[in-house]
Amino acid sequence: MEMLRISERDIRRHAPSTALSACWRQWRAERRLARGGVHFRGTDCQAIADAYAAMSDQDFDAINARQDWANWRTIPRAMSTHVPDRPLRVIDLGCGAGSSTRVLAFYCPAGSRITGYELVPALLDVACRRAYRHRDGRPADVAFVCQPVTDELRARDGGRLPDGSVDLAKASGIVGHHLSAQSVQPLIGELRRVILPDGIAMLDVGPELPADVLTPLLAGHGFTHLGSKKSWFLDPTAQLIFCRQSTTGTA
Ligand SMILES: C[S@@+](CC[C@H](N)C(=O)[O-])C[C@H]1O[C@@H](n2cnc3c(N)ncnc32)[C@H](O)[C@@H]1O
Repeated sequence: MEMLRISERDIRRHAPSTALSACWRQWRAERRLARGGVHFRGTDCQAIADAYAAMSDQDFDAINARQDWANWRTIPRAMSTHVPDRPLRVIDLGCGAGSSTRVLAFYCPAGSRITGYELVPALLDVACRRAYRHRDGRPADVAFVCQPVTDELRARDGGRLPDGSVDLAKASGIVGHHLSAQSVQPLIGELRRVILPDGIAMLDVGPELPADVLTPLLAGHGFTHLGSKKSWFLDPTAQLIFCRQSTTGTA
């Protein structure tokens, strides 16, 4: 099977180059929001939803600026050589205002179908207003579902997302920042259900859920760890890449 290949040259050409200003914007916005009592870090789902809902579009862009900078590097690196070069069915978990969805739309093979999942309706309103284009300039097939990713995953039409209907599940800035070893369990069960055998899950790790905790949880549900990718070598977070095994003796 032909695999998707994305060169480092292409990644560097399309990625934003302003890391320092992204970090500075994020730091200032986070400090201002904290002074106003808005704290979005943590794993309490309701508190997270309230905090993100209290932000303006500009606040969210600012606190997500470093994540957006990293996404344009980490996501294509993780996809390259790990997913087939054919139209893919993709889910973007915790897609926020759609900035990670834009990266997926840009790099997924033409004809792919990408569905973003997000907890906060106001962020999805922003995501729905954005344009999503493939590298060739054509519009990408993108739609969104408003729900917690820890619930049973729904399809675009509101029904249950069918078993074995996803080639690639991707999360950035959510699993490692907003889920715990306990709250991630239903999501892992859903990934096991909806991802096709030999399909790929690319999940972020971070302060709340580090790699040494997440990897055995995925292994226990029949996912093989293929490796990890970072935006740059000092990035404290990373995207772990897992392949859903075709057969397993696990629960
Ligand atoms: C740091 S933002 C990252 C957004 C986007 N993935 C990106 O990389 O630009 C984290 C997002 O995850 C969402 N989120 C957090 N917990 C969630 C949950 N349990 N279900 C769905 N979305 C969630 C937040 O509302 C927020 O939009």
